Amino acid sequence: MLRIAIIVGSTRPGRNGEAVAKWVYEIAQRRSDGEFELVDIKDFNLPLLDEPVPPSLGQYSKEHTKAWAAKINSFDAYVFVTPEYNHGTSGALKNAIDFLYHEWVNKAAGFVGYGGAAGIRAVENLRLIMGEMQVATVRAQVGLSLFTDFENFSVFKPGPQQEQTVNAMLDQVIAWGGALKTLREKRAYES
Ligand SMILES: Cc1cc2nc3c(=O)[nH]c(=O)nc-3n(C[C@H](O)[C@H](O)[C@H](O)COP(=O)(O)O)c2cc1C
Repeated sequence: MLRIAIIVGSTRPGRNGEAVAKWVYEIAQRRSDGEFELVDIKDFNLPLLDEPVPPSLGQYSKEHTKAWAAKINSFDAYVFVTPEYNHGTSGALKNAIDFLYHEWVNKAAGFVGYGGAAGIRAVENLRLIMGEMQVATVRAQVGLSLFTDFENFSVFKPGPQQEQTVNAMLDQVIAWGGALKTLREKRAYES
């Protein structure tokens, strides 16, 4: 069964990201074509990148890096739940991504963005970053607006169409995640 992480991309106290990610997880749990896990970057207490050797060389020295690497390595695909901060993703999520390299490579990813402008620019920012990590990003994405999917910009009340949007994104993540899993297994067999 394909393993898919739903990654909470914000860490600030009072964040909207937790409610959004839990909602995505509940929708995913109703499916039978994947095994889903909620992964909160806050739980890993990552400092600003403090590894002396570039992550692409895979020589991790810190316990927090090793724990984060083991968690990310255990998945075939990812759903990034990202806020939009100043037209990009959060610094916390970018930092968590930067900590690793090979754990991300040849996997698939989908996005759930939220913010004043539905997180559109944060997702575009993440697509660029994922290209460098050799992660295949799917076209279908979820955009949640602070104006229409939240009450008072803080109580999450997603519009009725949004569940369908989440499932459309998950369909693509599972299809590409499965294809890339086959590729990784073939390469491991040949080497
Ligand atoms: C530092 C900061 C910058 C923000 N910049 C933007 C922005 O550029 N565009 C936007 O649509 N919303 C922006 N917002 C609104 C956030 O997307 C919104 O508050 C969201 O709930 C933040 O996610 P969080 O609650 O999980 O931290 C910003 C919020 C913060 C805290």
